[in-house]
Amino acid sequence: MSILTNFIEGKNRSCVPIWFMRQAGRYLPEFREIRLKNPDFIKLCMNSDLSAEITLQPIKRFNLDAAIIFSDILIVPYALGQEVVFKKNEGPVLSRLDNNTFLGIGKNQFSEKLNPVYKAIEKTRKKLDKKKSLIAFVGAPWTLLTYIFTLKKSDNQLDQAKFDKVKNDLSKILLELIEYLKTHIQNQINAGADVVQIFDSWAGLLPENDLNNFCYTPNKILVNYCKSKNIPVISFPKGINKKYKDFVKVVNPNVINIDYNINPKWARDNIEGTCLQGGMDPKILLENEDIIFNETKKYLDIFKNKPYIFNLGHGLLPSTNPDKVMKLINCIRENKI
Ligand code: CP3
Repeated sequence: MSILTNFIEGKNRSCVPIWFMRQAGRYLPEFREIRLKNPDFIKLCMNSDLSAEITLQPIKRFNLDAAIIFSDILIVPYALGQEVVFKKNEGPVLSRLDNNTFLGIGKNQFSEKLNPVYKAIEKTRKKLDKKKSLIAFVGAPWTLLTYIFTLKKSDNQLDQAKFDKVKNDLSKILLELIEYLKTHIQNQINAGADVVQIFDSWAGLLPENDLNNFCYTPNKILVNYCKSKNIPVISFPKGINKKYKDFVKVVNPNVINIDYNINPKWARDNIEGTCLQGGMDPKILLENEDIIFNETKKYLDIFKNKPYIFNLGHGLLPSTNPDKVMKLINCIRENKI
């Protein structure tokens, strides 16, 4: 049993576990060094030796309680045959969806294409301290669909006209996509991951009437799938504000990661029956130490009597200074906050 699984199952809650979304990434000079030599991001994700090495970088540096496998949610559309390119300052761009080949790919072929991810998990697990958790992840179906169908406009708002136009197609594809995601989750568990996080980063784009079909229901299917494998699961339906309460009621994950727009006191008083994780704005880590410590103290105090995993309300920003991250972790561990 790992630190996170023990904590989530209530077997050992003596310390607040600490890990960060995007803990392996551009804010680390050791990551940038590897990245510079590997300009193709998807290829880098598919290099199991480098993926394992990058996964372990923040563990070596900060001795965090959990590693999250270095990969990307867009590896799934890639495995289904879409081209995925990461353009500098523009984010990911996916090629036009080819309706003839997309989703026509067999489960074995899909798993075969993603084999390097599973090899990376095996390699990481061998090198990672047994006590530490290894988190696998998938993008939630809605968030993947926003990329697969380019449903976001350049200002990151929903392209409502396009959404309305393809809604029927989306509903059909959604169910098939869920099956591939189950396969990807199963393969990651088989390779040695012991916790799963489901990222629904664009849940906040959904009109209220569509939340049930496109967010709650697909997340619930995947959460139940993880639970059926006895693997704790963390949900992150970013941007849904007060609907977090309904989400937890309906989806019932083992852990809910709140985003930086959620008032932590509101979360404490309204979200029931799950562990809470994260919440603090990653921008806080760009501020001076006083501000960082005050804000961290706020979260730790508010969740003092609740099962709480320290993390952020979204991923660490590339401009974060790793020394500040180190200081923060040490202070939390030494109860100096
Ligand atoms: O958290 C970790 O350290 C594990 C690795 C991880 C990455 N992406 C590596 C990555 C995880 C869990 C993700 C998830 C992911 N990817 C999400 C969900 C979480 C979130 O951030 O909302 C989303 C929406 C994506 C899609 C994606 N991948 C985007 C939008 C981008 C470009 C902009 C950005 O946010 O960085 C990526 C690229 C990416 N994924 C990088 C890393 C380290 C940066 C690649 C680079 O060096 O340019």
